Amino acid sequence: PVDLEPVAEIVQQEGGEAHRLIPLLHAVQAEYRYLPQPVLDELCKQTDITPAQLAGVASFYTKFRTKPCGKHLVQLCRGTACHVAGADRVLEEMRRGLGIAPGQDTDPNGQATVETVGCLGCCSLAPAVQVDENILANVKVEDLPEIIDHCQD
Ligand code: FES
Repeated sequence: PVDLEPVAEIVQQEGGEAHRLIPLLHAVQAEYRYLPQPVLDELCKQTDITPAQLAGVASFYTKFRTKPCGKHLVQLCRGTACHVAGADRVLEEMRRGLGIAPGQDTDPNGQATVETVGCLGCCSLAPAVQVDENILANVKVEDLPEIIDHCQD
């Protein structure tokens, strides 16, 4: 079960008016790492926001996750520079190494979620990969065992 305790604090910090919806969702995602449905239901109870408003915004912004995120978050840049430098192959091998099934973004043990992002803002380091808070530069397929290892603890 999802702990609903933090919801009241989030509402107190961000405000409960309908125009605060996006900051509220950011705060929920920062707390839970995704948007759990019971938390969204609770948010509607504690604020002026309606379930319809909420569903519209949460599905419109792809950076809001509606499924649980793995313990580690791997973000592969697919901007132009990284694409040219071989990001697709890195992505494919990363998913294979972690055992992520087609159509999924998280491995079966919930250790790592892999997603692609637009330019990470460090194109001279292409291909760039962000693992949790760290940006890794010039990532090659040969570097993946170490990254995958890191994601498994
Ligand atoms: Fe990847 Fe800019 S294109 S960091």
